[in-house]
Amino acid sequence: MSYQYNVYRNLSTQEVIQQFELYTFPSFRQKSKVRFLQEPFFVVEASKNNEKVGIAVLEITRNRSYSLMKVLSLWVKEEHRRRGIASQILRIAEKIAVNNQINYLNIIFQDNWDSFKWMPNLLQKLGWNKPDKRTILVKLSYQQVCNLPWFKLQEYPEIFRVVPWVELSQDDYEYIKNKQKNENWYNEEISPFQLPHLLEPLGSLALKNTENQVVGWLIVHKVAPRTVQFTSYFIDKAYRETPATFNLLVDSIQRMYKADVGDDAIFMYRASNEKMHFFAKAIVGEHNKGAFTEIWTGQKWVYGEFKSDTSDEPH
Ligand SMILES: CC(C)(COP(=O)(O)OP(=O)(O)OC[C@H]1O[C@@H](n2cnc3c(N)ncnc32)[C@H](O)[C@@H]1OP(=O)(O)O)[C@@H](O)C(=O)NCCC(=O)NCCS
Repeated sequence: MSYQYNVYRNLSTQEVIQQFELYTFPSFRQKSKVRFLQEPFFVVEASKNNEKVGIAVLEITRNRSYSLMKVLSLWVKEEHRRRGIASQILRIAEKIAVNNQINYLNIIFQDNWDSFKWMPNLLQKLGWNKPDKRTILVKLSYQQVCNLPWFKLQEYPEIFRVVPWVELSQDDYEYIKNKQKNENWYNEEISPFQLPHLLEPLGSLALKNTENQVVGWLIVHKVAPRTVQFTSYFIDKAYRETPATFNLLVDSIQRMYKADVGDDAIFMYRASNEKMHFFAKAIVGEHNKGAFTEIWTGQKWVYGEFKSDTSDEPH
């Protein structure tokens, strides 16, 4: 008997978790915890004798200039691989996209997954673009950094005062929001207000100047039981390149280590950000090449006039 393909529409986050979590890769549940996902979802399922043998979870997002279908998870049961199931699932996803006037599809994958070896081929056979390296993920443990030369907590320069993020006043938060609205102060990707339910209060710190204004922050999120993520690290242009930059990081890590908040820390940046790559290498130390994971994106334009400004899309 050949494979059957079913499309499920209008699913909520909870419904996807209940019915399909066991068949998702990467885990849909984990993804839904650490970033905002746009409901409702589509799921494309391949089955044989009523058994699920392949799944894709699809999310649709729209902004002013284009709409996008993200393949959040793609998985085929081991015994059924190399029979064209994933390819067929992606062809069906493409049809759904066209029927819903979605401009393009994308999928992300990492260089530490087995499938990294064949995802580019699989996608290219379906007419997708050659995937590109978009994001770098860095993973570190306390033991890996605590003896590195930069890891010393020094006095903050006198122009700064450090305050736990959660102890800022309502006026401070309003000050940041207004400055963002009026001056486009920081890139929204590093907004300190994202994922409030995951905020790690011990590690999240704000920097204030002598006029008691917020001039920077380091926001940490708890993304797994023993893993924290440095999500947002920002210092106002006028206050950069002082010892406070590294100090804020050391301070945050030490506060969390003392309270046994977790074992690992991760952070991400765009692969094209050379300054950040330089900074990341300095943090990680020369001998720790395994700390870096590359995150690649494949995409296929399927509907409407092609626009090239899609690379800013976060995953
Ligand atoms: C990635 C995955 C979904 C592919 O599923 P699949 O149904 O086996 O893929 P297909 O049969 O449609 O493969 C299409 C083409 O991809 C390439 N390919 C797929 N698996 C491959 C493998 N193990 N080795 C080499 N090439 C492979 C081949 O070119 C293949 O065409 P061919 O069989 O005619 O040579 C499956 O390997 C999987 O579930 N992996 C674990 C989860 C995962 O990593 N998902 C990716 C998330 S982005």
